[in-house]
Amino acid sequence: MKTHKIALYPGDGIGQEVVAEAVRVLDAIQQRSKTFHLETENIPWGCDYEAKTGQIAPPNFLEKLRPFDAIFLGALGDPRKRPDHMTLEPLICIRQSFDQYACVRPAKLFPGISARVTANTPIDMVIVRENSEGEYFSCGGRFKIGDPDEVAVQTALHTRKGVTRILRFGFELARSRRRHLTMITKSNALKHGMVMWDQILETLRSEYPDVEADQMHVDAASMDFVRRPQRFDVVVASNLFGDILSDLAGAIVGGLGLLPSANLNPERHFPSMFEPVHGSAPDIAGKGIANPVATILSSAMMLDWLGEKEAATAIRQAVESTLGAGHATVDLGGRLKTHEMTDRILEQLPA
Ligand code: IPM
Ligand code: MG
Repeated sequence: MKTHKIALYPGDGIGQEVVAEAVRVLDAIQQRSKTFHLETENIPWGCDYEAKTGQIAPPNFLEKLRPFDAIFLGALGDPRKRPDHMTLEPLICIRQSFDQYACVRPAKLFPGISARVTANTPIDMVIVRENSEGEYFSCGGRFKIGDPDEVAVQTALHTRKGVTRILRFGFELARSRRRHLTMITKSNALKHGMVMWDQILETLRSEYPDVEADQMHVDAASMDFVRRPQRFDVVVASNLFGDILSDLAGAIVGGLGLLPSANLNPERHFPSMFEPVHGSAPDIAGKGIANPVATILSSAMMLDWLGEKEAATAIRQAVESTLGAGHATVDLGGRLKTHEMTDRILEQLPA
């Protein structure tokens, strides 16, 4: 039997609730499969941990996470307790330090869900977000803080290596799907970094003649996400644009409660991390009404990554049939509580 070592990192707010639900599904699937075992360790970092220890995470948190095969994250942050840019630092640091440069966020219209846009044909896209540099590269500073003459500088960083590898990742993914890639930039205004993105796309195009690749500016792409989302298959974007477009994609296919994500280090030199696209939602935390689907689907992405394809497929199918049967949490217009939604999904798993 294969063993996979998983760091369970629920974090804050509804992160704790939805991770607990996904763990129920993971437990059920490994019991049924009998071919693999998940050895989990609970990582208690976040705002509660800070209240006890004075730190959001221990200083050697990267070292602690390094030996795991995967990290399964809920969500971080509770702005009522601490500013988000502080509590979220470990998240961005993990993505960057473990070179999880490919953030993969599938957004699909499931049966049983009404799209928030006119959708006569299926919506099925994957956002591939550059996750290691771009606008999230922490370079800048503030001068004369609080003074009327204050200056703040925040610089984005785009490297040829970083852009090339994320585009290649997108092209490869497109080959396994409908062979269409849309690269999102804003090169009509950001004439250094984003023009480099355009030029790199041109150099790669000939290597993937079987994939149709086009380019859109982020403003026009936002409009088309709403107007004709069906045109998108694989969408490759910089760190910030990918972040924004993934929330938009979530809204279009029924809500962020449905969108999973994987932060991948494709070379497998470091552990990859799996988490729902949504955040810690402090406004609904503790009420038992969060939608567990995004996190359960993230657990399927994790199993896929670990090579447990059959188990991953079983989870995805169970989610699809549950939604297809009309079972829904409050965010989807239904009445089910978090654990009831998981109950329905568990019932759909193969015996
Ligand atoms: C996401 C989130 C994070 C991001 C936040 C919480 C820092 O919005 O994963 O999409 O911007 O990457
Ligand atoms: Mg986001």
